[in-house]
Amino acid sequence: MKRINVSVIILLLMGLSSLHAQDRIQEVEDLLEKMTLEEKIGQLNLITPGGGVATGAVVSEDVEAKIKEGNVGGLFGASGPDKIRQAQDLAVKESRLGIPLIIGSDVIHGYKTTFPIPLGLSSSWDLDLIEQTAQVAAKEATADGINWNFSPMVDIARDPRWGRIAEGAGEDAFLGSKIAEAMVKGYQQDDMSAEHTMMATVKHMALYGASEAGRDYNSVDMSKIRMYNEYLPPYKAAVDAGVGSVMTSFNDVFGVPATGNKWLLTDLLREEWGFDGFVTSDYTSVNEMIAHGMGDLKAVSALALKAGLDMDMVGEGFLTTLKESVEDGTLTEEQITTATRRVLEAKHKLGLFEDPYRYSDESRPEKDILSEENRELARKAAARSFVLLKKHENTLPLAKDAKIALIGPLADNKNNMLGTWAPTGDPQLSIPILEGMKNVAPNAEISYAKGSNISDDKDFAEKVNVFGSRIEISEESPEELLEEALETAEDAEVIVAVVGEATEMSGESASRTDITIPDSQKKLIRELTATGKPVVLALMSGRPLDISEEMDLPVSILQIWHPGVEAGNAVADVIFGDYNPSGKLTATWPRNVGQIPIYYGVKNTGRPQATEEFEKFKSNYLDVSNSPLLPFGHGLSYTEFEYSDIKIDSETLIEDGEVIISATITNAGDIAGEEIVQLYTHDKVRSITPPLKELKGFEKIKLESGASKTVEFIITTDDLKFYNADLEYVFEPGEFDFFVGASSAIEKSGSFSIKK
Ligand code: NOJ
Repeated sequence: MKRINVSVIILLLMGLSSLHAQDRIQEVEDLLEKMTLEEKIGQLNLITPGGGVATGAVVSEDVEAKIKEGNVGGLFGASGPDKIRQAQDLAVKESRLGIPLIIGSDVIHGYKTTFPIPLGLSSSWDLDLIEQTAQVAAKEATADGINWNFSPMVDIARDPRWGRIAEGAGEDAFLGSKIAEAMVKGYQQDDMSAEHTMMATVKHMALYGASEAGRDYNSVDMSKIRMYNEYLPPYKAAVDAGVGSVMTSFNDVFGVPATGNKWLLTDLLREEWGFDGFVTSDYTSVNEMIAHGMGDLKAVSALALKAGLDMDMVGEGFLTTLKESVEDGTLTEEQITTATRRVLEAKHKLGLFEDPYRYSDESRPEKDILSEENRELARKAAARSFVLLKKHENTLPLAKDAKIALIGPLADNKNNMLGTWAPTGDPQLSIPILEGMKNVAPNAEISYAKGSNISDDKDFAEKVNVFGSRIEISEESPEELLEEALETAEDAEVIVAVVGEATEMSGESASRTDITIPDSQKKLIRELTATGKPVVLALMSGRPLDISEEMDLPVSILQIWHPGVEAGNAVADVIFGDYNPSGKLTATWPRNVGQIPIYYGVKNTGRPQATEEFEKFKSNYLDVSNSPLLPFGHGLSYTEFEYSDIKIDSETLIEDGEVIISATITNAGDIAGEEIVQLYTHDKVRSITPPLKELKGFEKIKLESGASKTVEFIITTDDLKFYNADLEYVFEPGEFDFFVGASSAIEKSGSFSIKK
């Protein structure tokens, strides 16, 4: 056994560096020839030794023995070049064929240098910046032995009750697609085998963000028209960008769980979209098809394999049942070989056959992880993710020598800065807001009080504190905390209250039916406002919140999401005006949960409501207007931008032609700032009911005070295509309106028509 092993390794290590891509695939074929059925099935097994954060009820057992037996294709939840070297040693030196492992991880918003949560990052609308964060994440993760990333998560979400809205890019297919592409490019760059790049995984295929009632893992049932036009584009964009792998979702998609859904994983993904990488399940999602009602473990494993799933995460249904399914004729060996081939090809793309220890360079962590440069990028990204939701009396920015009362349970806190799903980050490395404000404004007089607990509810806190203490309920009573805050505020010129959600109040299995700020903090905010002093709310959350009450108070509101490792410095940069906030919302904020699902791209009903006033027999509510509290694309600046001269160069667009829509934007305020200029269109007559607005372009521009710039958007008939009732991707001649402005809630700017 050992002799075969050594010769295989020598073969692998010697000749391969000179091989071309074509030959490498031949080499996979040669390897497949040598493999037993068991060894092929072994490559489809993805397990976790349990060092990381488990997101299901089980972790894998006997990992070492399984690797040696050739029963493991990949590992996740392990890191460090030395540990990965040991794991590769087991696979390469001690298994019969010496096939290296693929090493996965959830590097969702940075590795050790944690960037803002993805929903926050998306609010920057800055594709270069997003790509750079992915590059840095890849550099750090690969330095620590990881070569395969479970990101980007591109699930469109229009339901802020769903906790995982935090992990994606919001509600819009156009913006979501651009961000998906930028992230794949950032992680993989042009060469997955390069030392600083890793393979990306687009997830969760598909429609996970549309789970009913915002309850995690819940059913999804959706028309194909909606799917193709509004939910699938970001997954497709990732595939078009060359993503190496795809992860299935937990939900069912019209009656069949995604993990066993042949239409999704084969007909659509491979045949229609031409995906040639491999597909992994989510954590035990093969086994979970038993609970979905699809049969026993053997049946669901065969179902998944036949549907087009290649790798089984943690559940080991493949490992324990596929052989029997081949033996009794449920599956053919050829079907197994196809899946194995895809996994081996991925290892080739990563250069693992060339050098299994490519990502085990002990000298790298020190220089590549958490460098000054990386932290600088985290600070920059965080500041650009913030969204100024509301301005009140020009309270912001604050003077650097102001007397400030910094209040709130999230103001001097490390545990909640990173945000959900930052398992590779370390909360203790993060800069609290208090520290950041002192760093940036050493001459300010800052006094601090906690003011309230994040929540006073012990049972709630216990559910949130699963991965460590996030909600700490003070020994002091809520009344004492409040009193202390009011005393602290007495001498201050201005109050900054850092309030909102704890990290694990959003994320996986963290759905909420009440998305307001917890009562303890609401009370604090009311009392602080009642002092009559200027109040700034720095609002932290992993989702759009219902802040109807706070919007009515005389306060300024800066949405800071969960800002990442440089939280405090970035917040201070913006609060003191070193950076003028420029983020815009990528998911609509509702007036209350009753409006959910809520998104800007709605369609007209046959009885549209003409105004915000209630009208009988129109499509509206008795108790609240249809418009959201804060629309998609909304975000203010310390300066004011004026839009003028919005025009189109021709009112007719012909096939293969183009029209140019332009607008002049002027910075009418006293300080420099950035604006995200947005273009929407509306197809007035369509063979299927059209959305009232569809985002078609955006550009982020920087303008000095008093400066103007003309932004141009080129529109072709390709940009106006949609999937019709037969799922053909077409444009239809006719009239279109266009809208250029600062958010999705803008008036029509003009029209044009497509003529054939
Ligand atoms: C479950 C999550 O749904 C998925 O996003 C993640 O990649 C896996 N767990 C692995 O941690």
